[in-house]
Amino acid sequence: MALITWTKDQFGTNVNVTDEQHQLLFNMLNELHDLAAGADRAAIGNKLDALINFVVEHFATEERLMKHQGYPDFDAHKAEHTKLLETCGGVQKKFHAGELDITQETTTFVKDWLVSHIPNVDMHYGPYLNSKGVS
Ligand SMILES: [Fe+2]
Ligand SMILES: [Fe+2]
Repeated sequence: MALITWTKDQFGTNVNVTDEQHQLLFNMLNELHDLAAGADRAAIGNKLDALINFVVEHFATEERLMKHQGYPDFDAHKAEHTKLLETCGGVQKKFHAGELDITQETTTFVKDWLVSHIPNVDMHYGPYLNSKGVS
């Protein structure tokens, strides 16, 4: 069973590019969650790196959009992104150094972050960006 499922009601921002990225992100996280149940380290490492690269790209997309449109909560929003990326960077480094394993607790931590961040933080830029003509 999938760890996390995108629905418009729970996660829709009404901004096409970020809604699409969130769905891709969920797919990648679900794949990593399945691998974390017992796949070999190389497969887990490849998926972990791809997921983190995509998170970096996704945050950059949101930050570019918000900054370009003068979104008032830009700084607080970016600070949440930065904090997660610091955590992810630490996990990635330790994993590749052989000091830490990726488990379903790790993927559940990321899921919990998304389940809080998207509805409580991302979904607030939707109406603002829509009002600036971004859809
Ligand atoms: Fe997002
Ligand atoms: Fe965000």
